[in-house]
Amino acid sequence: MKEKVVRKAILPAGGLGTRFLPATKASPKEMLPIVDKPMIQYAVEEAQACGIEEFIVITGKHKRAIEDHFDAAFKLEESLKKSGKKKLLEEINRLSHLNFAYIRQREALGLGHALSYARPFIRDEPFAVLLSDDIIDPDDTLLKDMIHLYRECKAPVLAIEKVPMSDISRYGVISGTREKENVYRIHDLVEKPPPESAPSDMAIIGRYILTPDIFEILENLAPGKGGEIQLTDALAGLLKRRTLYGYLFTGKRYDAGDKIGYLKATVDLALKNSEVSSHLKEYLIAVAERLKH
Ligand code: UTP
Repeated sequence: MKEKVVRKAILPAGGLGTRFLPATKASPKEMLPIVDKPMIQYAVEEAQACGIEEFIVITGKHKRAIEDHFDAAFKLEESLKKSGKKKLLEEINRLSHLNFAYIRQREALGLGHALSYARPFIRDEPFAVLLSDDIIDPDDTLLKDMIHLYRECKAPVLAIEKVPMSDISRYGVISGTREKENVYRIHDLVEKPPPESAPSDMAIIGRYILTPDIFEILENLAPGKGGEIQLTDALAGLLKRRTLYGYLFTGKRYDAGDKIGYLKATVDLALKNSEVSSHLKEYLIAVAERLKH
């Protein structure tokens, strides 16, 4: 049988983004810029670097700006052409060969619920899921490494990260045995456990390589924590049928769905941006001096 490659990615963006209110009252959280690109574009570029060219974005109310962002912008292109802004023109057309499909989640009933909408677009292929508010340092190779592991073990792979126990109840948490460097065979998954009953300090972060058998489980799943259809619960159901792996990420991740994570991502990614890095560095040094007094 021909090996199935990961060609598609789902980008769930149907959440309400309440931690960023009022900014997210009428605009998508996924369009908040980090330096000069919206958060969701970082996720798209990360997947594109792994050869993924088909994207299924799960949207919701007030999310139309995402569709416009990845669409052609003829008037803008004409104006950039006329004013000779070649570099900017190239920049806005850089992703124009990618294909996007948009599905609207009618109500924000959870990440698992959002994913279930993508079933008709995935059919029988493995696929990646990227939560765009988890920003992975663009120099890192997390998704590539996960796809590599999927090809080796032909089983779903979840990105995991060790987090302080004081934060554990914000995440889905796994327990597992280490099979080799960074690779864990998963024994158990729990959504947002209290620290005293968390099975470990290994939290699931926003990158997954999944197989279509997750959809059957999602469709029959009752609401879990917070009354939402939880992906972690569906994965716990899948674990009863097949092996799941965790890939331990040790690089830099920013929880940009949260204000402090967003600010850290902005500073660090701006420091990598040649246009602004040296001025920003000077400014940060001055701020650090000021804070000492
Ligand atoms: P979050 O837990 O960050 O929720 O969702 P949120 O609604 O985006 O933000 P807060 O917590 O209210 O501030 C994790 C991911 O799952 C998606 C979100 O868009 C985000 O990418 N999601 C969540 C959906 O697509 N639909 C949902 O019903 C819930």
